[in-house]
Amino acid sequence: MCGIFAFTTKNGKNAAEVLMDGLMSLEYRGYDSAGIFTPESGSIKAVGAAAQLRRKIPAGFFGKSGIAHLRWATHGEPTEQNAHPHQDCSGDVWVIHNGIIENFKALKKKLETLGHTFKSATDTEVLAHLVEEHLKTEKDFTKAALLALNEVKGTYGIAMQYRGDPSRVIGARMGSPVVLGLGEGERFIASDASPILRHTRQVVFLEDGEVASITPESHTIYKLAGTKVSREAEHIDWNAEAAQRGGYDHFMLKEIMEGPEVVENTIRGRLRESEGLAKLGGLESVERDLAKMDRIIIVGCGTAYFAGLTGEYMLEEHAGIPVEVELASEFRYRNPVVNGRTIVLAISQSGETLDTLEAIREGKRRGALTLGIVNTVGSTIARETDAGVYNHAGPEIGVASTKALVSQLSALALLTTFLGRQRGMSAHEGREIARALRALPQQIQAILNTRDGIQKMAKKYKNARDFLYIGRKYNYPIAFEGALKLKEISYIHAEGCGAGEMKHGPLAMIDQKFPTLAIATSDSVYEKMASNMQEIKARKGPLIAIASEGNDEIKQLADDVMYVPKTIEMLQPILNVVPLQLFAYFFAREKGYNVDRPRNLAKSVTVE
Ligand code: M6R
Repeated sequence: MCGIFAFTTKNGKNAAEVLMDGLMSLEYRGYDSAGIFTPESGSIKAVGAAAQLRRKIPAGFFGKSGIAHLRWATHGEPTEQNAHPHQDCSGDVWVIHNGIIENFKALKKKLETLGHTFKSATDTEVLAHLVEEHLKTEKDFTKAALLALNEVKGTYGIAMQYRGDPSRVIGARMGSPVVLGLGEGERFIASDASPILRHTRQVVFLEDGEVASITPESHTIYKLAGTKVSREAEHIDWNAEAAQRGGYDHFMLKEIMEGPEVVENTIRGRLRESEGLAKLGGLESVERDLAKMDRIIIVGCGTAYFAGLTGEYMLEEHAGIPVEVELASEFRYRNPVVNGRTIVLAISQSGETLDTLEAIREGKRRGALTLGIVNTVGSTIARETDAGVYNHAGPEIGVASTKALVSQLSALALLTTFLGRQRGMSAHEGREIARALRALPQQIQAILNTRDGIQKMAKKYKNARDFLYIGRKYNYPIAFEGALKLKEISYIHAEGCGAGEMKHGPLAMIDQKFPTLAIATSDSVYEKMASNMQEIKARKGPLIAIASEGNDEIKQLADDVMYVPKTIEMLQPILNVVPLQLFAYFFAREKGYNVDRPRNLAKSVTVE
């Protein structure tokens, strides 16, 4: 959940400046406190985001190397004292950490009996003291770090420094991502590639249980046991600007506006339209196995889970394969019935969500074939699944997931076509899906062009304290997603509900002050949606509808209408979710909230 960034150079650059610039691009990983250390100038910490830290750094703060951190609190309050880096008793060993050291209490007790004194309430600090302890007998920093890391249990992405070997940084990974950047006469360690890309595109991803020892001109990777690992560097195509806001006020709006491009990128090169086929290179290695599978369990969290629920409708209706969708956080604690003919499919933008990762591991243990629909190349889920489909949506920075969902649903449509054609879907049906997918970018653009009207609607309803979102069939999960978007960035009560469930309880809440957003595009359940809307209107509930272009009659039912183009029923959610994302965005803006940084949330949930 936190962001780590480390740098060492022989090129005369000031590491402090490089580190601070890098922290800004890691901010989506955490922003309740920040800190920096260089062997030359020492440490500065601040409560709040990276900008607060930058303001506190005095002129002349310098380093040829250093480590910097953004924190999202797990153990200990978000205070300066608990901000990273953490030090040992001597102030020579400094550590930054993303994750949780589970056995820190036992280690702390042991270290205290050895005379160590602790300055913070964090689990991280034990590591600095452990290294200090090992340096008493083992003078080599890398070896002392390896000995210390062998004592900790839990998850970590770590970078640490020792004043006795100031140009060296040690990085380590266990469950939290760590990537090395390889420049000319300089090396980097970070939680992801975004702060590295403006300096170099040559990177090496660490695996769990690996430790890297870097100096400006070298990097050596070890297993925890001490054996060396050789790994080729990879070239990353993303540029650093791809992760910037691109002129919009917020990443969230920029990412919603990227919808057309995102669909293009997700489907690019993956449709053989004339044959009605989807070609998914990432599934080729398991293509034959996939044909034998008789069940899919989709796992994910938050928005990715709602993508999965929508995928269930697609896959069952068009590929004829039974699907269950599970919250990843529940799946891993059940006793799920899984066998060698089960696919466990993880959906995750970050590819690092711990619950989803553990669900995949659980599926694997039980003999399933594991697949991923993942956006982040080289992420843990992408690497641990047997095969998968990358989203190619580009980095998503806004905490509220928007473009990732549009891409996940497009990828699910590709997967449906791929598996469907293995199971008797006709070429005609495959062609129809392919044609409709190709038309989506233009259709999304048409919705984005109506954003001023949606902004006005958000203004009109800005004082509502509660919102209900209703939908049926393919749009049932989208109702939940619309509500999630509103609550996570506006902090108001919003509920998703299957429209058919209204009379079973939720209808009781409706009055003049309780607006409902009804997803009522023209499809096989439209008439039923219209009846549900009548019931709300009869109770004087304000009604906003999402309807298909040309449906004028709906104006008699709804107070306000957001129109969207029509596509085939299984793809309609990809269009319907866009106005819901825009509505949530403008609603939160009306309230004056920082939509990219909702309180209490962080982009990537790498702890339970
Ligand atoms: O990176 P992932 O897709 O695995 O993340 C899953 C959820 O944490 C994520 O979708 C979360 O619910 C978003 N904040 C929703 O906007």
